[in-house]
Amino acid sequence: METKSIVRTFLYTLLFFGFSSVLFAQVVIPKPQHIVFGNQFFLVQKNVGIYYSSPDAFQAALILQKKLKTYYGCELPVVNSRMPETGISMEAPDAAMPMSSREAYYIRSDAQTVIIQSGSSAGFGNAVQTLSQIFSKQGIPMVKVLDAPKFSWRGMHLDVSRHFFSVSFIKRYLDIMAMYKFNRFHWHLTDDQGWRIEIKSYPKLCQTGAWRSGSMKGPYSDQVFDTKTYGGFYTQSEIKEVIDYAAALNIMVVPEIEMPGHSTALLAAYPFLSCRQKPLEVAKAWGVFEDVLCTRDTCFQFLETVLDEVCRLFPGPYIHIGGDECPKTRWKSCEHCQKRMLQENLKNEMELQSYFIKRVERYLKTKNKSIIGWDEILEGGLAPEATVMSWRGERGGIEAAQQGHAVVMSPGQPCYFDHYQDDPVYEPLAIGGLNTLKQVYDYKPIPALLNSEFQGNILGAQGNVWTEYMETEQQVEYMVLPRLTALAEVLWASDNSYENYLQALALHFKIWDRLGYHYGKALLGSTLKTTPGPRCGTLRVQLESDTIIGRPVFKTTTGFAEGFKSLIVSADTVIEFGKIEHQKPLHTFKRCSLTLSKASSAHIQFNNQPDLPYNTGGSFTLVDGIRANKPRIPRQWLGWQGKDLEALVDLERNQSIASIEIGFLKEESAWIYLPANIEIWTSVDGQKYSALNDIPRVHEDVFKVSFSPLTARFIKIKAKNLGRVPAGKPGAGSPAWLFCDEIIIH
Ligand code: ACM
Ligand code: ZN
Repeated sequence: METKSIVRTFLYTLLFFGFSSVLFAQVVIPKPQHIVFGNQFFLVQKNVGIYYSSPDAFQAALILQKKLKTYYGCELPVVNSRMPETGISMEAPDAAMPMSSREAYYIRSDAQTVIIQSGSSAGFGNAVQTLSQIFSKQGIPMVKVLDAPKFSWRGMHLDVSRHFFSVSFIKRYLDIMAMYKFNRFHWHLTDDQGWRIEIKSYPKLCQTGAWRSGSMKGPYSDQVFDTKTYGGFYTQSEIKEVIDYAAALNIMVVPEIEMPGHSTALLAAYPFLSCRQKPLEVAKAWGVFEDVLCTRDTCFQFLETVLDEVCRLFPGPYIHIGGDECPKTRWKSCEHCQKRMLQENLKNEMELQSYFIKRVERYLKTKNKSIIGWDEILEGGLAPEATVMSWRGERGGIEAAQQGHAVVMSPGQPCYFDHYQDDPVYEPLAIGGLNTLKQVYDYKPIPALLNSEFQGNILGAQGNVWTEYMETEQQVEYMVLPRLTALAEVLWASDNSYENYLQALALHFKIWDRLGYHYGKALLGSTLKTTPGPRCGTLRVQLESDTIIGRPVFKTTTGFAEGFKSLIVSADTVIEFGKIEHQKPLHTFKRCSLTLSKASSAHIQFNNQPDLPYNTGGSFTLVDGIRANKPRIPRQWLGWQGKDLEALVDLERNQSIASIEIGFLKEESAWIYLPANIEIWTSVDGQKYSALNDIPRVHEDVFKVSFSPLTARFIKIKAKNLGRVPAGKPGAGSPAWLFCDEIIIH
């Protein structure tokens, strides 16, 4: 018997012997409102039928048939009639049944029957997903479930422009979404790097716009490109196939056609639609581009023809029209756009953006479609009936909800699943940021700041998957799982605990292994943390991990230790750490080289405090033995925007020192620059300081100065911020960032 079913049988048995349901581990993700198990099993064998008397149940019956066949190996007939004595029955709810939402469902099973009741195809679909998560080798367990969602918008997004994914993968993605009761698929079909939807009226959108002549490779800061032609698009018949597939899973597909920014691919195909009307290439780099759609009438007529085809294809009520990250540079110098502003009495280019969105909304209304846009559509005034997707934090969402608009929350933290899920050192390259499973799990779509009268305007939330750094379908799965399941808990479950959820997740890992899904392994590893040691020059090392899946352990050259013990180190040490179960590693151990120096654990005082979010670790970050890495995450670096680093390092006692090393970061695309210069002073008493002479300029990320040994306890370091971002660079004129880690003194 598989471990999974042993565990389940054990769990069901526990309940039967009268253990309270508090002891009962969670199995289904997201956790149902009410679920109790009994001790019998409904045998799944050939003579069993799936009977449906409600037409709403037909699609779900077929999905159940497929899932039963995959798990039990027998294909049960799907029969349109009432159930005889035994079998699986899908029927309308009894009149007295409390169905709190259209998507609610009810399941009651024993050894003879499995009865599923709901008032909608979505409810039947949800019931089937719940059932399939509790299949066990003995059969379908005796169970009673009454369940309904917390939020109506349970979305997952996928960017197919930066990288293109096959129809079969899109279906697999939809299967994963459905398994965890997501009901909105936001399909990001167009962007600077590729137009992916066939538009019959404008064939060049795909002939030209779907292909780029190279792609960015490696981190953005390297600016390295290959020269391979890359692209692809979905024909309208493939789009229909996806829409039908999603519909059977009760998932609404929301297409996104980006405008007026992020439209380089469109402009490459039809250059006359831009302000300058000059030839452009489909973008190879990631980022934001200055050439955007012009606001001439011709451009709107073109878009309307595109949208006519989009509206005919997609049966859902929404069209997402983007609206984010639209630079206003071209509009400012375009005679047509300026004329438009005059004609329409628009005060500035923000209002021109608002005019653009409102005009498209007006057009789409004639097609019975509502628009959704990113929170930039608030700029210059919101279109009257737009739904806002809040991505730059929650502020836009709060404002829109207060104005009475519907809102979908998808703030960068924690809803962007393109961000790292674990320390970047151990992860494949990603765009940056860090959104851990726990952060996603803890997310509350209704902001605490929002008055209760507006809370009903928050439809739900969505996980966004931008694919600049996801070249393969496997990588998309890896970034989405398991975080998608934590978001499912947020959006569906009424109450739960992280521990319960992790216990269920351990079972789901086994399901994913069986299905061949790729998923992030952060939970199968542990996290190493250092804290100040007992003396300057030492560090305390500890592991921070949950113990639900495996036991954290670490290994140094001197041996093995349980993760709960801490270790004091006073010299450079390599530590391997991870988790074990049954004496075996759960996953490849991580490795960390700790760099110890006279400055380790030293007390540091700043004249200027570092800036959010690069201040989370406090001054200890600079002497914690862990050299920060690229790509950067807040915990490892300290950053000052427009301010100098002025640190006073106290080595606790006078010591002989002969070198000082300081790590910095240069990442022009993120406005991060090396310091303009460095000054250092030393002192034995903290009163009288002598300047260190002959300090070299900082040319590289690691600055080092060596000198004849001197005695000092106090060291003052001043690293001068570059000031403003230089002209011609991204963010020119803005206050530059200065990033630092780590300080090493020998
Ligand atoms: C976005 O991430 N630019 C919506
Ligand atoms: Zn223009």
